[in-house]
Amino acid sequence: MTDRANRNSSSQWQSSIGFIAAAAGSAVGLGNIWKFPYITGENGGGTFVLFYLLCIAVLGLPIMVAEVMIGRTSQSSPVRAFQRLSMGNSWWQVVGALGVFAGILILSYYSIVAGWGLHYLLLSIVGGFPQDSNPQAYTDLFDSLVQSVRLNIWWHTVFMGITTLVVLRGIRGGIERFANWGMLALFLLLGGLAIYGTTLPGFFPAIEFVFGFSDNFTWKSALEALGHAFFSLSLGIGAMLTYGSYLKRHDDVVGTSIAIAIADTVVAIGACLVLFPIAFSVGLEPSAGPGLIFINIPIALLQLPFGQIGLLVFFLLLLLAALTSAISLLEMAVAFFIDSLGWTRTLATSTMGGFIYLLGIPSALSGGEGFFGAGLRQILGMTWFDAADYLASNWLLPLGGIGISLFVGWRLNSQQRVTEFRDGSRLGSWQWLYFLWVLAIRWLSPIVIVLVMLYNLEIL
Ligand code: PFF
Repeated sequence: MTDRANRNSSSQWQSSIGFIAAAAGSAVGLGNIWKFPYITGENGGGTFVLFYLLCIAVLGLPIMVAEVMIGRTSQSSPVRAFQRLSMGNSWWQVVGALGVFAGILILSYYSIVAGWGLHYLLLSIVGGFPQDSNPQAYTDLFDSLVQSVRLNIWWHTVFMGITTLVVLRGIRGGIERFANWGMLALFLLLGGLAIYGTTLPGFFPAIEFVFGFSDNFTWKSALEALGHAFFSLSLGIGAMLTYGSYLKRHDDVVGTSIAIAIADTVVAIGACLVLFPIAFSVGLEPSAGPGLIFINIPIALLQLPFGQIGLLVFFLLLLLAALTSAISLLEMAVAFFIDSLGWTRTLATSTMGGFIYLLGIPSALSGGEGFFGAGLRQILGMTWFDAADYLASNWLLPLGGIGISLFVGWRLNSQQRVTEFRDGSRLGSWQWLYFLWVLAIRWLSPIVIVLVMLYNLEIL
């Protein structure tokens, strides 16, 4: 069950720090820096943040342990992993296959948003922002970027190119090395910006907003927090499973999963503690929606001391976060082709990189007036980009989460489950922790996720 087929030691992490950096790099992404602050703003702050933390601890973390565990135990990519551990039952392989499909789909539109970040990074370097602080000028700047076919395709090409180059270099020489340096730089940049945030007049109102009690919290906010916890921890589609498969047989699963979840949460809260002081310092509303970092933050920062440098640091941070996540998405698809079809890394990476690039083009065109944008909005009520995000985030991720929970909770035999939980981990021998974990993956996660899906279908 644990034979490594066509793998050797260069396809294992050099150190557990390397694994934590790579997996935290997967988790920390646009979801933390772009999305979490704006949904926190839209849902009124403190109570939403508290509920989100609860979702991470009670649902996200147990599934993360289960997912990394399937990877470590099987030493295989998603589809193969379910095949091996279920002794060939093909139904379980569907969970892995859906995950690979979801990863490909997510990366195809993720790259477009990352591309906007690249464009803004360039604008911050060359000082290309409007001279006056008229909000309309910034809104127009962002709108014209979203609508521009040429710019979207250009930045999509650059971003997918960098991602593909890193994955081509393999686990140790590419992904682990990039993640070690990238995550270190990311935390330094975030720390620098957070210190800058404390010097601003909006700092205390921001603390109150992020940690205080709020009354805008609704049912819908709760569901949004839950869905986002999944997306943010990169759960449900086999990315953590793939990275877990590069662990050594006796590496710690429980402790490293906790470290990854903490790193992800620190960055999400850290991003709020950077963005809200900036917004509040010039009197902007926190509920600006998706344009928060592309419209409101440039407007605000450029009115503040050292704003130009602040913007540059911020978009560099965004780019690093996006890259380490994109790398994990591409790696998952690549691992599938290497493992299941016996392809070489070079062939698998260039083919998948190219395929995802092409699949991203309709998303690049989604801001325009053509078929994939305005056309589909008329037919489906959403653009191609929105539809891809909706399908992946609202359906494929939660379905994968249920599959992983049920598999580890019910399909693995109890002896194997206990052994795998304990193996390599000091925390693994804590009986009560094991008990809570089993409770979460057997009952709590599947039930809660089904409720969320029923709500999405408007059955509840
Ligand atoms: N966790 C990433 C983020 O928060 O941006 C997104 C992501 C990466 C989701 C990898 C899923 C995944 F497999």
